[in-house]
Amino acid sequence: MDDSACYRDRVLILDFGSQYTQLISRRVREAEVYCEIVPYDWPLEEIQAWAPQGLILSGGPASVTDPASPSRGAEIFDLGVPVLGVCYGMQLMAKELGGEVEAAGEREYGRAHLAVDDESDLFANLPPDALVADEALDPSGARPIVPVWMSHGDRVARLPEGFEVIGHTSGCPVAAMRHREKRLYGIQFHPEVVHTLGGAEMLKNFLYGVCGSEPSWTVSSFVEAATEAIRGKVGGERVLCALSGGVDSSVTAALVHRAVGEKLTCVFVDNGLLRKGEADEVMEVFSDHFNMDVRLVKAAGRFLSQLKGVEDPEEKRRRIGAEFIAVFEEEARKLGGFGFLAQGTLYPDVIESTSTRGPSDTIKTHHNVGGLPEEMDFELVEPLRELFKDEARAVGRELGIPEAIVGRHPFPGPGLGVRILGEVTEERCDLLREADAIFIEELRRSDLYDSCWQAFCVLLPVKSVGVMGDERTYEQVVAVRAVTSVDGMTADWAHLPPEVLGRISNRIINEVKGVNRVVYDISSKPPATIEWE
Ligand code: XMP
Repeated sequence: MDDSACYRDRVLILDFGSQYTQLISRRVREAEVYCEIVPYDWPLEEIQAWAPQGLILSGGPASVTDPASPSRGAEIFDLGVPVLGVCYGMQLMAKELGGEVEAAGEREYGRAHLAVDDESDLFANLPPDALVADEALDPSGARPIVPVWMSHGDRVARLPEGFEVIGHTSGCPVAAMRHREKRLYGIQFHPEVVHTLGGAEMLKNFLYGVCGSEPSWTVSSFVEAATEAIRGKVGGERVLCALSGGVDSSVTAALVHRAVGEKLTCVFVDNGLLRKGEADEVMEVFSDHFNMDVRLVKAAGRFLSQLKGVEDPEEKRRRIGAEFIAVFEEEARKLGGFGFLAQGTLYPDVIESTSTRGPSDTIKTHHNVGGLPEEMDFELVEPLRELFKDEARAVGRELGIPEAIVGRHPFPGPGLGVRILGEVTEERCDLLREADAIFIEELRRSDLYDSCWQAFCVLLPVKSVGVMGDERTYEQVVAVRAVTSVDGMTADWAHLPPEVLGRISNRIINEVKGVNRVVYDISSKPPATIEWE
C-alpha cells in the first residue's frame, strides 16, 4: 500500500509534459484535495488501483495531429471516473472519442476572453471580480466573460458525440466542452495559471462539484496521516537521520520524532563550513527544545584538512561530500543498530525522475552532496516525498519548528566551501561568516529577507587597494549576492534598495577586519548561476 492511500479524497494528474503540470497539482492541493502527478502512460490497472475520484489530463507541447504524439487510448474515459482535460488533454479527449482536432491556423498564446455558455457546473459561481465586459464577444451581455490564459496551436474543430460547448473565445469556438452524463470536461485554456481569473474556482468546481471530493487534505491531516504511516512502516526499529539544519531535514526529523520519539537519533555534522551560529541554533532547537537525541559531530578540522590547498570547485565538492559520508558512516557504526534512514526527499525530486520529460538536468546532481552513503544497509523513510517545499515549511510550522529554521534560505551541502573562491581556510571561513551574518541581519532588519530566495556573501580570491584613514590598504573583496526565484532553476538578482546596500557595504567594511571592498552581483541565472562556484 502506498503511504497516500489513507487520503480518500484524491485525484490523479496524468502528465503530458506541460510546463504547467506542477502548477495544476499546486492548485489542486490548495483546494485541499490530495493529488499526485504520474506519467501520461501510467498503466490503467494502476490508475484503477490508486482509486482516484477524478483524473486531470495536463497540457503538453505535442500536437495530437502528429501520429507520434503521446496518447493512451480511450479506455481512460470509460472508467466511470470524471476527467478534466486541459489544453492538450482536451484535444486528446476530443480525438480519442471521435471528434476532430485541427491546427488553429495561428498559435494562440496569452490572454483571451472566455464567454461562458453554461454556468451549471464547471463555471458556476465565478467570483464577480474575475468578470469583465466584452461587447464584441457577447453583444447580448448575458454571458459571464472571464480572462483566461491560452497557449495552443491546435483546436477542437468537431465535438465528439454526446459533447456540448460550454465556453468559447473569439478565436476558439470550442474553448470548453462537456459530456455531462459521463462527467468528461475539456478546457482549451489553462485554469492553473494566475492569468486565468477564476481558474481556482473552476478547478474547485471540478473537484468538489463533479468529482465529489471534499477539501480534506490539510497540513494537520497530513501530519496525522504521516505520523501513522511512519509508525506503521518502522515498527519498533530505530531510525537514523542526518540533520543539516536546512528545511527539509529539519521537518523530516521533527515529523519522524513525533512518530517514533526516542527511537530517532539525528546526526548533525559541523563541517566548519556552516553559517555563523548555525550549529548552536540547530542544537538548541532540536536537542533542547524538541528534546531529540541529536549527536553533534564536530568535524571542522577533518573537513578543513581535506580542503587544504584545493582550489577547484568540483574537487572541493567531491572532498566535502566524501568526508561527510565518512563521518556519517563512522557515527552510524558507533551508534549501531538502525533499521531505517530518514531523508528529506521532496515531491519535486520525485516528479523529476518520473515525469514525461525525464530527469532534469545537472542542477540536480550537485544537489545531492550531503547525500548519503548508498551502500549502507538501511530502508528509507521519506515522509515529505509528497510535499512541495512550501508545504514542507507549513508542516514544519505546524510541528512548532521556529520560523528562523522553517523560513530559512536554501544552503548548499558544501556550505561556505563553495562560497570561498580559492583555498578554504579557517580564517577565510571566519571572515566570510562575519560578513554574511551582517548582510543577513540587515536584510531582516529591512524586512527583505523573505522576499529573497537566497542571499549570501562570497569571498573572492582577489585583493584590491583601498584607503583607510591616511593609510593605503590592500585587502579582500566580498561579493554580496541576493536573488529572487521560485525554484532555484532560474533567478533574477534582487533589486535591493540602494540605501540598504550602502548600509551593508559600510558595515561589512567597518566591522569585518581584512575587507576593504564590497561589490553587488547583478547577474541573473541563466547565464550566471546562483552560487559563484
Ligand atoms: P546554482 O548555483 O546551480 O544553484 O544556480 C541552484 C541552487 O542549488 C544550490 N546548490 C547546491 N546545493 N549542493 C547543494 O546541496 C551543492 O553542491 C549546490 N550547489 C548549488 C544553490 O544554493 C541554489 O539554491
